[in-house]
Amino acid sequence: MNLAQKEREAAAALPKGSVLAVLYEQHARIRDLFDLVSSADSPQAKQVAFDRLRELLAVHEAGEEMVVRPATRRIASAQVADARNAEEAEAAHVLANLEKMDVSTPDFAMALAEFEQSVSEHAQREEIEEFPYMLAQLSSQDQLKMGERLLEAEKAAPTHPHPGAAGSTTAQFLAGPFAALLDKARDTFQDKKD
Ligand SMILES: [Fe+2]
Ligand SMILES: [Fe+2]
Repeated sequence: MNLAQKEREAAAALPKGSVLAVLYEQHARIRDLFDLVSSADSPQAKQVAFDRLRELLAVHEAGEEMVVRPATRRIASAQVADARNAEEAEAAHVLANLEKMDVSTPDFAMALAEFEQSVSEHAQREEIEEFPYMLAQLSSQDQLKMGERLLEAEKAAPTHPHPGAAGSTTAQFLAGPFAALLDKARDTFQDKKD
């Protein structure tokens, strides 16, 4: 069983919509999208798959910084929260660079493979160092409420990486809505162009 399948199994064992079910399911989708980008057989298909991956990663990491990290800080440790935020800030830089690259080049393929490895390790650290604490220490009701808040935060989150706001709960709350508005305008413009 690969990691995405294991994550889907973990999500299925939890109440639908609870924060960890949402996060496990998104980790599995992120892995699937990395596969889709690398295996796409035309530059157009690669670009479409990359855009979906970029959007999911941008909203997923912003959502975690806004909703999950404050809980981690409280019930796991500040060190773990800071370490995950730092990894996400670094990932936002890499994603912003990847976004500027031509997806059909070998350089892109190499950079993507390296990024996939670090995103995978980051997700596994979350699953080992954060999720068990949330599962053990938050009531089922709180886990459901957090799941709702996470999806709401993701709906309003920027769809492109913003390294200036990444890695900080406060910066996400302050900069997120403005960046999200700009990104949504940019996405609409791009949709019309396609
Ligand atoms: Fe994360
Ligand atoms: Fe995550």
